Amino acid sequence: MQIVRAAAAMQRLARQWQRRGWRVGFVPTMGCLHEGHLSLVREARRRVGRAGLVVLSIYVNPTQFGPNEDLSRYPRDLAHDLKLCREAGTDVVFTPSDAEMYPGNDVTANEPVSDDARTAFSTYIVEERLSQCMEGAVRPNHFRGVTTVVAKLFHLVLPEMAVFGAKDWQQVAIVKRMTRDLNFPVKIIVAPTVRAPNGLALSSRNQYLDPAQRTQAVILHRVIQRARAAVRRKSVPAAWLKAELTKFIAAAPLARLDYVEVFDPETLKPVSTAKRGTQLALAAFFDTTRLIDNGRL
Ligand code: PAJ
Repeated sequence: MQIVRAAAAMQRLARQWQRRGWRVGFVPTMGCLHEGHLSLVREARRRVGRAGLVVLSIYVNPTQFGPNEDLSRYPRDLAHDLKLCREAGTDVVFTPSDAEMYPGNDVTANEPVSDDARTAFSTYIVEERLSQCMEGAVRPNHFRGVTTVVAKLFHLVLPEMAVFGAKDWQQVAIVKRMTRDLNFPVKIIVAPTVRAPNGLALSSRNQYLDPAQRTQAVILHRVIQRARAAVRRKSVPAAWLKAELTKFIAAAPLARLDYVEVFDPETLKPVSTAKRGTQLALAAFFDTTRLIDNGRL
């Protein structure tokens, strides 16, 4: 397994592969890898075949974190990540520094180091429609950071396909839209959410939970199951369903609901009637830890 740190070296390598006609599957991550990430690696491998290359990036992207979010304490363990990547059959790990990705930026403050207009990083990609609701509404500029870094990574890795998790449903919808709107020659693959045996969606942020919070965090999955049961035989008013689910979440007193939304899985537009095939997403705080989950009803 090869480890690449410099952006220019990554792009040089990718262009060599392209000239040789090698297939490249790409899995972008922020590290602190778990089974969810590794399932994406396996999906990429399945699709590019044994002769193809699987590239995984590890980069905690500062521009997608808000000023009061967990950028500085986001869990990082490169040695362990590399071990997991090796075991899962990754060919290349791209792990750039902030200076490589955002030259001229003070990444902790998310702004230019100086007012020197010659050196500051100043170009962002903004998706304007699907980014307004849910995560975008409560995390301003989050998706601007995601689309910008994903676009940069696509240009450095030059993959034929990239695999994303359904766990972040809105993210993958926005990445698909960007790819289409800007004609990126990359096929976006969506892989199912990997869950712990009790239903809790695996997430790097689960590490922040204490044992009591971890036990109660299964409420997110229970909410999805509850909503599925509610629409199994008939469609129901979305407002009624959301009110029911909001009451239901009180069963986990450590959870503080941020939002629960029912919407069209493609357009992300809220629906007035929830039925089979409607998508549900929710976010909840456990103290300062914020978890998200979603599922198809
Ligand atoms: P990160 O949270 O590390 O997730 C990387 C990829 O793993 C995403 O596509 C995410 O949806 C997927 N993933 C996370 N948990 C999963 C689970 N339980 N089951 C299946 N897939 C799961 O998402 C990001 O990083 C960043 O926003 C990134 C796209 C890398 C841009 O910085």
